[in-house]
Amino acid sequence: MLVNVSDAENILRSGHVVAIPTETVYGLAARIDSESAVGEIFSTKQRPFFDPLIVHVHSIDQAKKLSRDWNQVAEALARKFWPGPLTLVLPKSDLVSGLITSGLDSVGLRCPDHPLALQLIRKVGIALAAPSANLFGRTSPTSAEHVETEFASKVPVLDGGHSQVGIESTVVLIRGNSELSILREGQILQSQLEHELRQAGITHSWSTQVSRVESPGHLKHHYMPSVPLIYCRQIPRCEEHLRSAIETGLKTAPNEVEGIVLRRPKSLRRFIELSLSRDPRLAARELYQKLRELSVQNADVIYFVEPEAFRKGPETEQWQAIRDRLSKAATLQLDEELA
Ligand code: TXA
Ligand code: MG
Repeated sequence: MLVNVSDAENILRSGHVVAIPTETVYGLAARIDSESAVGEIFSTKQRPFFDPLIVHVHSIDQAKKLSRDWNQVAEALARKFWPGPLTLVLPKSDLVSGLITSGLDSVGLRCPDHPLALQLIRKVGIALAAPSANLFGRTSPTSAEHVETEFASKVPVLDGGHSQVGIESTVVLIRGNSELSILREGQILQSQLEHELRQAGITHSWSTQVSRVESPGHLKHHYMPSVPLIYCRQIPRCEEHLRSAIETGLKTAPNEVEGIVLRRPKSLRRFIELSLSRDPRLAARELYQKLRELSVQNADVIYFVEPEAFRKGPETEQWQAIRDRLSKAATLQLDEELA
């Protein structure tokens, strides 16, 4: 069911969930001060409680109340990149419940760059917890129609058009007041964050060491389309060769990884290739839409051949987020087996 901004406001006020547009992907939103509304997010998505939710704000001032340590790194990055596809993970304040943060002492904060989302958060006057509006482990929605399909029209949706970025926000953990780690890659790159902090003269360091406790939602598989995806690091010699490599690969592939069931093809008759734009921004914008479109085209397997630009060249860093999403969405990754 599609709703307008004032309907969405009423639904949120009455303590229920509504899907909202953002520039990255659609989110399933609830007000952070209602445990039952936040609980409804988990039940609607069939999401396990160990995976924390991002809290959406309309301004830096609102964010400051939700963290007990809004430091200079957060201030500099939020000033430069908000509203935008950047989530800052910081020590939480008492206004944020443990249900939202999965019991962690930190909270992910983001100010989305979408006029309807901002208008709605302002109207409600309370920050909104919102994970992507898809069933757990599945492909994120980038249009109101995707949300309608995902939840069989049972969730009210505020239609804000197609998400312009198309993949989820970059998530950055800020430890103490100077150590940063990227927990999830997105359109905003580490090099841009680095540049901004240098410009602001802020001493800082980067760490790639992230514990499971710090990032519990970081699973090996995610974003899976309904038809199994095969990620090829080399160009398959021919379809027959690809078929036999998949057959062999599936024999040893696990059925389930970290509780996520890996999709298996029912047969290996019909193959369909996922091709993306050569421009990383356009490729991100169309990625999830394409995965959904291909999934309803009656193919047994979707395959993707990794372009060279993912590994070398001036745009490698820009491709990292897409590479991350596709590798996690894949049931199987093939490399030498294809030679
Ligand atoms: O672009 C986005 O970020 C979208 C839109 C709707 O804002 N949201 C989104 O939420 O992708 P979700 O729940 O699908 O992914 C959020 C991820 C979680 O899986 C978790 O890994 C990480 O962000 N996260 C959130 N809060 C965290 C925290 N306190 N500590 C560590 N990781 C956190
Ligand atoms: Mg998600």
